[in-house]
Amino acid sequence: MIENDFIPSSYAHDKEQGRVQWKAPSNIALVKYWGKKQNQIPANASVSFTLDKCRTITSVEFTKLDKVDKEFSFDLLFEGQKREDFKPKIETFFKRIERYIPFLKNYHFSINTSNTFPHSSGIASSASSMAALSLCLMDIEKQMVSEMNPDFFYKKASFLARLGSGSACRSVKGSLVQWGEHDKIVGSTNLYGIPYPFPVNDVFKSYQDTILLVHKGQKSVSSTLGHDLMHGHPFSEKRFKQAHDNLIRLRSIFAEGNLDDFMEVVESEALTLHAMMMTSIPYFILMKPNTLSIIEKIWEYRRTGKKHLCFTLDAGANVHLLYPNNEKKEVEKFIKEELIAYCENGQYICDQIGFGAKKM
Ligand code: DP6
Repeated sequence: MIENDFIPSSYAHDKEQGRVQWKAPSNIALVKYWGKKQNQIPANASVSFTLDKCRTITSVEFTKLDKVDKEFSFDLLFEGQKREDFKPKIETFFKRIERYIPFLKNYHFSINTSNTFPHSSGIASSASSMAALSLCLMDIEKQMVSEMNPDFFYKKASFLARLGSGSACRSVKGSLVQWGEHDKIVGSTNLYGIPYPFPVNDVFKSYQDTILLVHKGQKSVSSTLGHDLMHGHPFSEKRFKQAHDNLIRLRSIFAEGNLDDFMEVVESEALTLHAMMMTSIPYFILMKPNTLSIIEKIWEYRRTGKKHLCFTLDAGANVHLLYPNNEKKEVEKFIKEELIAYCENGQYICDQIGFGAKKM
């Protein structure tokens, strides 16, 4: 598909008003997206686990305006409170998608959104929130056309979400989601995320992700700025090639359930992401001393028993612990005894692999 396939030719039905509601999950990248071209096109392909419990729930009430407005007309409630400071992001999103959702200026939208994970936990909510909003808009569009097949619905929702925040396109459908053109991955595209198209061993279907909240404050450098710093970065080309090669490596790892190799790829990806931050100009560090202490503890845990606990990191200080379901008991004990001490106020979130967004 190409971008223009997402521009509707006309709408068969006129809707005066209505309400839609969706919940969309967060996701954690195993091969990271870091660096992009114009129009939210990723510099390299990525793959992520969809989460289950960390979600954004968004409802959109829409009312037809008497006349088409020059500006977008919407208000935004976050966890029941009006949030003017969140509006510019939605405004930018609407501008980017207006071409594909031409009814945007015909309606007033009341957007009401909340997260299932604690606010300012340092967990990025842009992926789940942009995915949930995109699904709401697609739900409205669906009511205006005579017929829309589900495949198109989800592809376009992911396409729109990507324009809001790149990683959001991986929060729409599927439990293991691939985004970005890759010569060895059938059906892969820069435009939207696709359910991982190759066999996945059962061990990954109940994988656990415990998120240790190391630092709950605002990040010192935004992801958007970080992506930008990959332009002219001394290691960018090598990094993009490494991500490409890691995706090739993961194909047999996912199929065979080779957890030792899985851990190597995932940890190397996380550390490379942060290495890119530390070697850009300007350079910056998002990890905290406790992030490193946790990593050392994990490595020590692995050295002393043949266990499959590994970590990954987002663009922040929090640590995602990834491990198979059958090791859950021991890992939970280890977290309580050894790792909680490094979490801000002892807080962590127990999540696991999920299956994508849902209409409510
Ligand atoms: C480190 O999707 O937040 O989490 O497209 O600018 O909104 P924008 O960036 P964003 O970047 C995510 C970066 C990452 C890696 C990943 O999720 O693949």
